[in-house]
Formats: sequence, structure tokens, C-alpha cells
Amino acid sequence: MSEEQHPRRLFAHGTTIADLKEYMEPFAASLGYRFNTETEFVDEVLASEIEILAESGDVYCPCRIRTGDPKQDVKIICPCIPFHRDQFAAIRKCWCGLFIRHDVEDGAELTGVAEHPEPGTPIDVPVSRVEDMASGHVRHVKVGSRDIALARSGDDFFAVSNVCRHAYGPLSEGLLDGHLLTCPWHGWRYDVRTGTTDHPDADIRTYPVTVHGGVVHVQVQAASKRVVR
Ligand code: SF4
Ligand code: FES
Repeated sequence: MSEEQHPRRLFAHGTTIADLKEYMEPFAASLGYRFNTETEFVDEVLASEIEILAESGDVYCPCRIRTGDPKQDVKIICPCIPFHRDQFAAIRKCWCGLFIRHDVEDGAELTGVAEHPEPGTPIDVPVSRVEDMASGHVRHVKVGSRDIALARSGDDFFAVSNVCRHAYGPLSEGLLDGHLLTCPWHGWRYDVRTGTTDHPDADIRTYPVTVHGGVVHVQVQAASKRVVR
């Protein structure tokens, strides 16, 4: 199931740890994450979330402080992975460690404080499972402040800026024919392999893409340096 098919869900009082696992596991998997291999720790974090649900009405993160502003706090409703893709990809887990990247074998190695990488360090950010995108499909992916159009052509994946250089049209809503992506607004066409277009000085940015473990990764550079939990 793809991220696009996962509307965020509200949980009622009486929700159990098993209920949370049933919902969160496929959601996280579609983003390239899984529950920590430390199962007792997972149950402790989820038990905290159930207490927070009873007190606040939603499954807010146990290791973050709520601001009281619903627009801000939506970014720390669990699983908050879509809002923090580049940070979590860099530290290979979510802040609490409830979720680990699909390619981490032992979650116990990742407990405690994690150092954010030096600015400019390449980070491979999981963005989709291979099985969730058919050939010809284009999807908008937000990675930090970057708006990226992720495209599949045959067995190959490509990542380009989602923003058309003509009048900022959303390229992920355009049509992909082979390697040519047509903007839905006025028809400018871009080659997703190179970001080039026929219009002068209007090429778009491309991002390196890798696929491993059945997951597509887009490479971005680490931003400012900071310590995260
Ligand atoms: S940091 Fe982890 S536990 Fe906290 S809300 Fe995000 S995904 Fe859930
Ligand atoms: S905005 Fe893309 S062609 Fe006009």
C-alpha cells in the first residue's frame, strides 16, 4: 500500500498496542521504515502513545514537546516520518527510535542521542517501495523543504524538481511518456533522466536515485548541523 493510500487515522479511547501496530506497520513500510527490533522498547513507546491519546485525543510523539498549535503539532503525530524524511534518513531511525530504516539490522545500535551528519554529507532518503509505483507513475515527495517528482519509467526511477520552470506547475501531476514528463499546466516537457527541456535556461534539478532492499532512495545533502534525539 502506498503512502498516498494512507490517510492519517484518528484513534478512539480503548485503542490497544496491537491496534497501533496494525495501522503503523504498513504505513511505515511504505516509507522504507519498520518497527525497531527491540520489541520491548516498541511496546513501551506505544504504551506511552496510548496514554497521550487518552490525555490529548491523538497519538502525539512521546519524545517531543507539543506546542499547542495544531498546525505545528500535526508534524509530531505518530508516525511522523513523512515530515522528517531527511533527518530520520540521516540518523537511520525516528527521533524516539520506535522506527528504524528498513536497512538497519539491529535497532539496539541506534538507541540514545544521534549526531546529525556534517552539512553537505550525502544522505540516501527512502521515499517509496518499488512495489508501490507502477511504470509511468509520478509521485510528489517532500524531503525537508525540497519538492521532488519521483518517476518510474520501466524498471528505472528518476527524481527531479517538482516545480516547472515556466510558471511553477506541479510536475508530479503531469504525464510521463517514456522519459518525457509533461507539465500539466501548459505542456512544457522535461527529460526525467537529465532535467533538460527545450526551453532555454529552464532545466530543472535532478537528484541521484538508488534502489536497494525493494526501496527507492533519493540522495540529498545534509543541511545545517544539529544534534537530534
Ligand atoms: S519520532 Fe518516532 S515515535 Fe515519535 S512521532 Fe515520530 S515516528 Fe512516532
Ligand atoms: S507551469 Fe509548467 S508549462 Fe506552464
